[in-house]
Amino acid sequence: MAQQGTAMVVGASRGLGLALVEEWLGRGWRVIATVRKPSADLDGLAQRFPDRLEIETVDIAHADQVRALRERLGGRRLDVAFINAGIARSIEATPASISETDFLDMMLVNALSPVRAAEILRDIVPPGGAIAIMTSGLGSIADAQDGWQLYAASKAALNMLMKKYASRHAADGHALLLVAPGWVRTDMGGRDATLSLEESIPLVVDTVEANRGKPGLRYVDRFDKTLPW
Ligand SMILES: NC(=O)c1ccc[n+]([C@@H]2O[C@H](COP(=O)([O-])OP(=O)(O)OC[C@H]3O[C@@H](n4cnc5c(N)ncnc54)[C@H](OP(=O)(O)O)[C@@H]3O)[C@@H](O)[C@H]2O)c1
Repeated sequence: MAQQGTAMVVGASRGLGLALVEEWLGRGWRVIATVRKPSADLDGLAQRFPDRLEIETVDIAHADQVRALRERLGGRRLDVAFINAGIARSIEATPASISETDFLDMMLVNALSPVRAAEILRDIVPPGGAIAIMTSGLGSIADAQDGWQLYAASKAALNMLMKKYASRHAADGHALLLVAPGWVRTDMGGRDATLSLEESIPLVVDTVEANRGKPGLRYVDRFDKTLPW
């Protein structure tokens, strides 16, 4: 199979991130996948694809770790940087009932840290490459429904921070994608979610690939359909 390019998936130990890695490996890409601690599932993929999968360690909530990762990558080039890491805490809570720690953790991991990681990694994504971040349809203010209130607020904050990033870094020539994968059965999505990984992730990867070479920011679902902010 022809070598397609290099994708980095940040937050790839399980769930959607692990599936993104497997999908890009299956398409012939070289993949750099990051974890916080060893993942048996990812190690299994490394045994299947020893020449094309590299595993790195980073916790995106720690800027020093992201900068150290950037240093280790040296002059490498990333055709796609996909920041998938995210958390959901106290999903039934309201502003009156949530633990402040849970809210602050979600704002740090879901909103600030992905955009900070983009800032740190952007210089090794060439013009025409893509920086994608996993957001959620719940991050849409225009479409806001009840439920997952503080998590939704963290994804809306992520979307806003990416809008600001996009205007500051328009000259980079990157496709900047905020991707909503749909409601998917993972540890976070739970068993009642409507979609399997196979029903979401190949379409997410299609969407990223379709947007390479198209500079600018888009908030899209897995079908590459634009979502309302
Ligand atoms: N599942 C859904 O229905 C759904 C819908 C919309 C959006 N999303 C978003 O999709 C992304 C992945 O969700 P998922 O369903 O796959 O969740 P998941 O099964 O809970 O997996 C979350 C992943 O993020 C990693 N992670 C968490 N905090 C991190 C940090 N500080 N630094 C680095 N990695 C970190 C986790 O690593 P560890 O194993 O080390 O914890 C794990 O690999 C998230 O951004 C989520 O908000 C999910």
